[in-house]
Amino acid sequence: MSQQAFNRHRRLRGSHSMRNLVRETKLSKEDLIYPLFVVEGQNYKKEVPSMPGVFHYSLDLLDDEIDKIVSLGIESIILFGVPKHKDDVGTQAYAEEGIVQQAIRQVKANHPHLVVIADTCLCQYTDHGHCGVIQDGTIENDQSLSLLVKTAVSQARAGADVIAPSNMMDGFVASIRHGLDEAGFSNTPIMSYAVKYASAFYGPFRDAAHSTPQFGDRKTYQMDPANRMEALREARSDIQEGADFLIVKPALSYLDIMRDVKNESLLPVVAYNVSGEYSMIKAAAANGWVDEKETVQEKLTSMKRAGADLIITYFAKDVANWINEDI
Ligand code: PBG
Ligand code: ZN
Repeated sequence: MSQQAFNRHRRLRGSHSMRNLVRETKLSKEDLIYPLFVVEGQNYKKEVPSMPGVFHYSLDLLDDEIDKIVSLGIESIILFGVPKHKDDVGTQAYAEEGIVQQAIRQVKANHPHLVVIADTCLCQYTDHGHCGVIQDGTIENDQSLSLLVKTAVSQARAGADVIAPSNMMDGFVASIRHGLDEAGFSNTPIMSYAVKYASAFYGPFRDAAHSTPQFGDRKTYQMDPANRMEALREARSDIQEGADFLIVKPALSYLDIMRDVKNESLLPVVAYNVSGEYSMIKAAAANGWVDEKETVQEKLTSMKRAGADLIITYFAKDVANWINEDI
């Protein structure tokens, strides 16, 4: 009696080394971008309560942390500033002695090879907590652009290797590209937060960055989570305007969008594994409900499988550690 033919998929799963051999997606240290929060003052290192393992650093304590990051093999960081002084036009975002500008100079002086990315936004620096300036109760697009250009240029002057605008004003890539070129920074790339949704998963970050909007929400400038075509419109605009990288943010609820953006463009696609995605795993793992290493690796792998070339993640140090242990 002849046996009905069927496919033996399990042949390629038989051993650890066989599985390694046929694995389609791999996480590596070069994929990782680690976010860091810098604050004014001295001798300050404090954990963000809603983000276990994530700290605020004053500049005198920053070098030690950067040394650790570099020795783990992480080659890129993104800096967020948390200033003391806030006002309605976010002056500290583009101050020469602003906290991020100082941090960039310090980090680049000690680690010239580390890729230092500057987040370019106003929300940590404005007293109302919005990503642009307010006129008659609304977030004014074009006036915000000129302040964002000033911010980007001051970050480039301080030595930032990459400018990463996260503000979601229309035309920010074109304006910042033009401003950087005019100021002599035509070689400084723009990593655009091209596709950024108005997400509830930013909650812990807003605690960390003290950037919760004081009125309303960000839905008039960040995208509606229900929309897929709109992501392509946003991505296309930024490609046309001269972006060098495209960020999709958040990552996990938007893996379909990540794939769409990857298929749309030849630019490197960056997944932003946001704060809420981080804290959920941390909380569940702390309760013993999930295995932290396994869940993190599975989630980051899924981002790469969906099309991400790079991942901004608060787990970067953990991942680098695990990769180092496995070698
Ligand atoms: C603000 C900004 C946000 C994040 C990075 N830059 C959140 C927001 O829009 O409030 C989110 C990062 C995270 O949640 O990890 N421009
Ligand atoms: Zn912002």
